[in-house]
Amino acid sequence: MTALRVALIGCGAIGTSVLELLEGDTALAVAAIVVPEEGVAAAQRLVPGVPVASRVPVAGIDLVVETAGHAAIEEHVLPALARGTPCIVASVGALSAAGLAERLEAAATAGRTQVQLIAGAIGAIDALAAARIGGLGSVRYTGRKPPRAWKGTPAEQGRDLDALTQETVIFEGSAREAAQLYPKNANVAATVSLAGLGLDRTMVRLIADPAIADNVHTVEAEGAFGSFELTMRNKPLAANPKTSALTVYSAVRALRNRAAALAI
Ligand SMILES: NC(=O)c1ccc[n+]([C@@H]2O[C@H](COP(=O)([O-])OP(=O)(O)OC[C@H]3O[C@@H](n4cnc5c(N)ncnc54)[C@H](O)[C@@H]3O)[C@@H](O)[C@H]2O)c1
Repeated sequence: MTALRVALIGCGAIGTSVLELLEGDTALAVAAIVVPEEGVAAAQRLVPGVPVASRVPVAGIDLVVETAGHAAIEEHVLPALARGTPCIVASVGALSAAGLAERLEAAATAGRTQVQLIAGAIGAIDALAAARIGGLGSVRYTGRKPPRAWKGTPAEQGRDLDALTQETVIFEGSAREAAQLYPKNANVAATVSLAGLGLDRTMVRLIADPAIADNVHTVEAEGAFGSFELTMRNKPLAANPKTSALTVYSAVRALRNRAAALAI
């Protein structure tokens, strides 16, 4: 079997961990790592065996995986799709920006290929996306984090996060509003929205809870299929406490499924 030649965009917390997990994989070969121009030399020192570039090579790549952010989707994913290279995207929160989802779709259509959004830090995306086919009535996402995790966000306005003694709802509204006000926390809400009722009809509640240490994600959905409640208590990635380890596993699963004879 010839290995799929993968271009990995971004070599930060998620990218580095993806690389580690792909080491020795005979079905997937990382053929290029793409980082901004100024980071090429440093990334090359980090991974001496793999070519590092500031662009996705136009030849010799079967699959692109993005773990870098909104700018990288614009710079690298859109052109790769238009050239006909399938792409896997981790920065799903970026699709809350007006028009980006449509532009990804248009580029993939032009290239006769596909862009896959990973489930990342959240589960039950398969159930939600399947339930949508029968019709969804409501979908609500609740993100609960320790107060310090909300520092540097609008949650600080009018309250002292360090002084909270009980759980406090810091935001309640649509996923679209949540993405505008809390862009750094947009990945899960955007993923749930895209799989379910969309950014305007997915309700989001964000909570600062002094009684917890981990980030807790809850999704409640009901519709023609019945209903479900899902709670995730994700462990952070050692390299970046803001990123769940599950996001890395989700990206690696998506990659392995592309190469697998039996995908699940
Ligand atoms: N889907 C999910 O559930 C989920 C969960 C966590 C993080 N994410 C997203 O994954 C992405 C990566 O997260 P991380 O923790 O690894 O971040 P990070 O900051 O540790 O790493 C980002 C990497 O991308 C590179 N980069 C930035 N702009 C680039 C560009 N224009 N072209 C090429 N490379 C570029 C940086 O140099 C860096 O190597 C973020 O967008 C984050 O929001 C998604």
